[in-house]
Amino acid sequence: MTRMNFDKIVFFSVVIIMWVLAVLGLIAYTVNGDTALELKELQEEFFQWKLKESPLFATTIGEYKYDDIVQDLSLAHLDQRKVIVDGFIEKLKRIDRTLLPRKTRYSYDIFLDTLQTFVDGYKWKYHGNLNPMSSLEGFQTDPSLILKISPFNTKGDFENFISRLLLYPKQIDQVIIRFSEAITLKNTLHNVSIIAVPDQLAKLIVDDPKKSIYFAPFKDQVHKLDVKNATQDELIKRGAEAIKLYIESISKLKKFLETKYIPNTRQSYGVDGWRDGQDYYKACLKWHLTTDMTPREVHQKGLEEVKRIKEEMFKIMKEKEGITDSIAGFSKILMNRPSLKFNTADELLAEYNKLIHDVIYPKLPEYFKDIPDYKVIVEPEKYDGPAGQYFIGTEDGSRPGIFQVNLLRPNETYVRFFTII
Ligand SMILES: *[C@@H]1O[C@H](CO)[C@@H](O)[C@H](O)[C@H]1NC(C)=O
Ligand SMILES: *[C@@H]1O[C@H](CO)[C@@H](O)[C@H](O)[C@H]1NC(C)=O
Ligand SMILES: *[C@@H]1O[C@H](CO)[C@@H](O)[C@H](O)[C@H]1NC(C)=O
Repeated sequence: MTRMNFDKIVFFSVVIIMWVLAVLGLIAYTVNGDTALELKELQEEFFQWKLKESPLFATTIGEYKYDDIVQDLSLAHLDQRKVIVDGFIEKLKRIDRTLLPRKTRYSYDIFLDTLQTFVDGYKWKYHGNLNPMSSLEGFQTDPSLILKISPFNTKGDFENFISRLLLYPKQIDQVIIRFSEAITLKNTLHNVSIIAVPDQLAKLIVDDPKKSIYFAPFKDQVHKLDVKNATQDELIKRGAEAIKLYIESISKLKKFLETKYIPNTRQSYGVDGWRDGQDYYKACLKWHLTTDMTPREVHQKGLEEVKRIKEEMFKIMKEKEGITDSIAGFSKILMNRPSLKFNTADELLAEYNKLIHDVIYPKLPEYFKDIPDYKVIVEPEKYDGPAGQYFIGTEDGSRPGIFQVNLLRPNETYVRFFTII
């Protein structure tokens, strides 16, 4: 073979290889397209199922399809959910991951991990699930939430709201069944987590349904509907009746907590007091940290970090303020420094607004690409709850994100103090 021929062969080989690759690429592209679409459709199906599972969440994000239903908290539903998620895993495994474009494989993996995590957690269905309310969780923490997120623009919106009000007593019965099962299995909360709930519920119990917070739309908005007066009157009447039943069931729940549940709360602060508590704790740790570190390793890591951070703090305390004794003493000095304190709720609210809009927002492009054009507003928390909590806005921007802050004790809120550390 002459050198010339050799070159020619190489040339043709390269052309053929390129041609074969192009054809293969085309096939691969088509297959990828179908497979990626299949994955996308399955994810969409899963998302729709999740919305139906958590109808209030759906309303929160502006998806109003399920505004007439409430979450099913029956014990049987825990098993039904497992069957459904198993079905999703089966369908997902039928999608050939190797045919997906590289980026979409991450999406596949995260999806599978989400589903698998749910199925792995099924083993613990009678632990956390049995205690669906606490001082920080449940409809009673912010009863105005449903009024804020639900639309009241049409007769249908009112019908949906009445439908939900009528379903709540059934949901409360399901809550009581869960709590009762927790008592039977000795998997209750410690009293510190729930002791405030009866008082929170008491605020919702009024003698006349027309005085209830849930009656507000029937007072303010029903008259704006483009329907006959008689229809408005009928909606008001049915609304009041539904609220009356709801209040009765809230009273029942309050009594149950006071007389049955709270006397049976667990003695230990941690879930290690529950049956298989040590293993449950490990499972929770894995869920939160997504690592297999043991509780002892995490604890050790915590101690090391505290030591490291303390050393840094001592260095700064000494350099900036000439203080060498305790961190607690240093904190006290800072907390009492007038420039770091607030005197009124208005001042504190203004500080949160300034931090979000003037400090954090301008910094976002340094850390994130494709920043969505969503608004966030700050408003006072409706009850004496945590220092702050966030409610997501709607995707179309029709309702902004809401950051609710506790303004009840401005002189004990150390926002400036925390931002400097
Ligand atoms: C319907 O109610 C409005 C006030 O809400 C009133 O002005 C109007 O006269 C009423 N119409 C009839 C037919 O009663
Ligand atoms: C809460 O539980 C602790 C024991 O863990 C007990 O000492 C305390 O009295 C309980 N408080 C109430 C209000 O039941
Ligand atoms: C904050 O103000 C309240 C009422 O004005 C007062 O009782 C409380 O002691 C104050 N707290 C601090 C840390 O100054």
